[in-house]
Amino acid sequence: MTIPDLRNVRIDSERIYLREFLEADVDAMLDMHADAALARYQPTGVFDRAKVEGLLSQILDDASASPRTEYKLAAIWRETDQLVGMGRLGIDRDGRHRSAEIGGVAHPAWWGTGGSLIGSRLMLHLAFDSLKLHRVWAHLHRDNEAATMLAARVGFQREGVLRDHVLVGGEWWDAAVYSILETEWRPGKRPYLVAATADADRLPA
Ligand SMILES: CC(C)(COP(=O)(O)OP(=O)(O)OC[C@H]1O[C@@H](n2cnc3c(N)ncnc32)[C@H](O)[C@@H]1OP(=O)(O)O)[C@@H](O)C(=O)NCCC(=O)NCCS
Repeated sequence: MTIPDLRNVRIDSERIYLREFLEADVDAMLDMHADAALARYQPTGVFDRAKVEGLLSQILDDASASPRTEYKLAAIWRETDQLVGMGRLGIDRDGRHRSAEIGGVAHPAWWGTGGSLIGSRLMLHLAFDSLKLHRVWAHLHRDNEAATMLAARVGFQREGVLRDHVLVGGEWWDAAVYSILETEWRPGKRPYLVAATADADRLPA
């Protein structure tokens, strides 16, 4: 089965929607990434303007690549049109195993509002319903309680720990691995979804 290259992805829920990033998102991204609390469990650390501009330019390049293996989408709070987070789906090994890594961050000012729970489900809708993937996995810093609880709420299962998985500032971090399979992603979990649209360059075989 060929995984389609989706362009112009937009996935709507009542409170937030996911869309492709725009060049004009630099300031909003910088605002989100400036808070050290966001970087606490991220190996990438705090982002300055140059780093945000580099990230955005890479995101825009990845969005037009073929095959498209990187989906980084902006999460927008519908009522105010503010950028409140970012979700990432990175397809492993050009999709030959229908597996992808998921990740994301939420703007600290919006933590606890439930947006990441919705955003995670919208990203899983993209993974399982649109891209027809089989497995979505995440690796989390083992002390990252918020992300661990979020993964459990969404339906991920803990697989184990990769010991000393990354070296950050001279310190080894263990990574806890979580996954969810297409068979565990049931239709009953989509009442939040309003609409999803995307242009597919190639349709699944
Ligand atoms: C992890 C993160 C995305 C959660 O974002 P959030 O917007 O606060 O999450 P939500 O408000 O949608 O909460 C959803 C669920 O996550 C869990 N959760 C969120 N924050 C939590 C916290 N501080 N402690 C424990 N559980 C927490 C809860 O289960 C919550 O559901 P509940 O309130 O109904 O119990 C956010 O803390 C973040 O951006 N952290 C930094 C980046 C990161 O660690 N990303 C994940 C690794 S890629």
